[in-house]
Amino acid sequence: MEYNKKFPSSFLWGGATSSSQCEGAFDQGGKGLTLFDFMPVGKDRYQRMIELPLSDQEDMHYPNRIAIDFYHHYKEDIRLLAEMGIKAFRFSISWSRIYPTGEEEFPNEAGLKFYDGVINELLSYGIEPVVTILHYDIPLHLIKKYNGFESRKLVDYFERYAIVLFKRYGSKVKYWMTFNEINIMRYSPLDAGLLKNANLQTIFQAAHHEFLASAKAVASFHQLCDGEIGMMLGYEPAYPKTCAPEDILLSEQSENELLYFSDVQVYGYYSNTMKAFFRKNKIQINMEPEDEHILKLGKVDYLALSYYSSSVCSSNPQDQSSVKRGNMIFGIDNPYLKESEWGWTIDPIGMRIALNRLYHRYHIPLFIVENGIGVNEELDQEGKLHDDYRIAYLNDHLREVKKAMEDGVEVMGFLSWAPIDLVSAASGQMSKRYGFIYVDLDDEGKGSLKRIKKDSFYWYRDVIKNQGRNIEL
Ligand code: BG6
Repeated sequence: MEYNKKFPSSFLWGGATSSSQCEGAFDQGGKGLTLFDFMPVGKDRYQRMIELPLSDQEDMHYPNRIAIDFYHHYKEDIRLLAEMGIKAFRFSISWSRIYPTGEEEFPNEAGLKFYDGVINELLSYGIEPVVTILHYDIPLHLIKKYNGFESRKLVDYFERYAIVLFKRYGSKVKYWMTFNEINIMRYSPLDAGLLKNANLQTIFQAAHHEFLASAKAVASFHQLCDGEIGMMLGYEPAYPKTCAPEDILLSEQSENELLYFSDVQVYGYYSNTMKAFFRKNKIQINMEPEDEHILKLGKVDYLALSYYSSSVCSSNPQDQSSVKRGNMIFGIDNPYLKESEWGWTIDPIGMRIALNRLYHRYHIPLFIVENGIGVNEELDQEGKLHDDYRIAYLNDHLREVKKAMEDGVEVMGFLSWAPIDLVSAASGQMSKRYGFIYVDLDDEGKGSLKRIKKDSFYWYRDVIKNQGRNIEL
């Protein structure tokens, strides 16, 4: 049965990407290096990168260096996105294209020009640019010199970088977000540039610096631009394994740990429960007297989230051996759900649960800026790709978005991750494909880079054209 009600006409249908996973051209246009330029392919690529010297290794393939070469293909890619009728495109700006080391006095004009080109191209098709200021790719120099956001120095560098972007693009870009999945540093400290000392104390000190950097950027944005600026949360709702109160307590604690980050950015202060968490874990955050005031100024206009899967918590010690990691947090198998090839649970109803939980906690608009499924795919003999599983996945998730909106949740839009195949963040694989558009490139970096439309391309185009009326129930 088809869903005959439409989504609101203001709903932002679109897709999302990030600089390091798309652009390539790692050493062109004056760009500085980032950690991604030294990350090999493979499940344990973060670990391997830490163990390897941060210099070129012979015979090593570094997939982010070429990525899908969006740097040279962006006009073709945006034309394809426009053909799908998307209304919004999320991309991130590479900090090291604007400030190659992060410490220069003046920004790099060639880097700024590249994003002028991307933004103008989007606007020429009537597509809203949605900009992430930092999607993990901190300039390598700042990581080596300061251990990333462990140092308060990065607060000022980030603020200066953000202000340059607001002044240059603020009249054209209405939607912004500061840090991608700010809470993921709790599980993946390297995303905050913590190459060493990745213990809880350092992680939360770095988090404090990211909160300040974000807050300062938000305050400057509100002074300089019209438009909306949000925070971005990686969210997986946690479920208790049973109705045993111990399981329920554990799932609520796990959930709260994810949400401490959004609490600070939405409320503008550290909650009592977060302070208690610090005390219990002997974490002492170094703060300056003005920090509380800065955090208050940094309250965001909306909450952007990624949603891929849910997790299950069990207090039973016997279950501990089966705990594994999904996209973010650790949990045990959910016997009611299937998994993707990469072990991420597929839970469309979890989308409705997620949206309701977040809206009840924060009462500000939510923007879904990532949702999708990674699949190892190959073209058939006729050069086509029939990705009915992706259509089913997205259809089911969108159905639950619509239901959440009927529950009263304010949802600004839905950006699929990713409209075009790109390099996986966690594993560096090209073979973990998310796109409506196939890119001819393999895990070793071989291929023509040709773009080919999958079946889902036409399906998403119809969904947008019909404002979601053709979503199946
Ligand atoms: C999100 C990240 O957590 O998950 C993206 O913001 C990432 O950068 C996406 O690509 C999917 O993860 P992966 O590892 O499959 O690329």
